Amino acid sequence: MPLSLRCRSVPPCDHADPVSSLAVVTAVDIVFRRYGDDDKLAVETFRCTTPGERWTKPPQRVIRCAPQEIRDGADARLVVAEEQAGRIVGVVVFGPNEHRWYIHAIGVVRDRRRQGIGERLKITALAEIAAVAGGRQNVFSEVHKNNLAMLGLNDKLNVLRAPDPENRAHFISAIAVTPAGP
Ligand SMILES: CC(C)(COP(=O)(O)OP(=O)(O)OC[C@H]1O[C@@H](n2cnc3c(N)ncnc32)[C@H](O)[C@@H]1OP(=O)(O)O)[C@@H](O)C(=O)NCCC(=O)NCCS
Repeated sequence: MPLSLRCRSVPPCDHADPVSSLAVVTAVDIVFRRYGDDDKLAVETFRCTTPGERWTKPPQRVIRCAPQEIRDGADARLVVAEEQAGRIVGVVVFGPNEHRWYIHAIGVVRDRRRQGIGERLKITALAEIAAVAGGRQNVFSEVHKNNLAMLGLNDKLNVLRAPDPENRAHFISAIAVTPAGP
């Protein structure tokens, strides 16, 4: 049974003005906001691979393909982390698939890692899913067994994991989210 995260970390989603309601400024210099058309080039060329860690390539591919997937009609949602200077330094891609919610990929540029950006992206996506789904919701993701950074991030958020029966190199991770109360 996945542990539960009650998503109070971002303001409740106001569907009349979803972009501004999702914009959260961290203590440093990063704004977390929804992807917009102007981000297309930055996302399609986004780099989050780590040399020697081949499991960082699939998430980069998922992130880079997301704008096209959206244009093709996929129900994929993106939140980006943007520096004040306008550089996109982190991206999370998530969405529903056959009545389940998934976080498909999270990536942070190498020179801004270990600053809480990946964790904040995941929490922001979970909060958005909780608000959109409107009730308790299990959120799933796949993590390569050697991906110590993502496994560590998930552990910090109390995300549970189990071996993927269809792919021995991966874990299936799951966490239950509920919308924040009034
Ligand atoms: C995984 C990834 C998104 C983490 O982003 P990040 O911004 O560096 O992570 P955070 O700074 O938010 O770290 C949050 C917690 O995760 C854990 N963590 C992060 N990086 C870690 C590492 N290299 N080793 C062990 N634990 C790690 C820690 O518990 C950390 O908390 P702490 O700094 O207080 O100890 C980033 O490493 C990345 O982009 N990797 C390449 C793409 C990828 O593999 N994505 C995941 C698969 S979808």
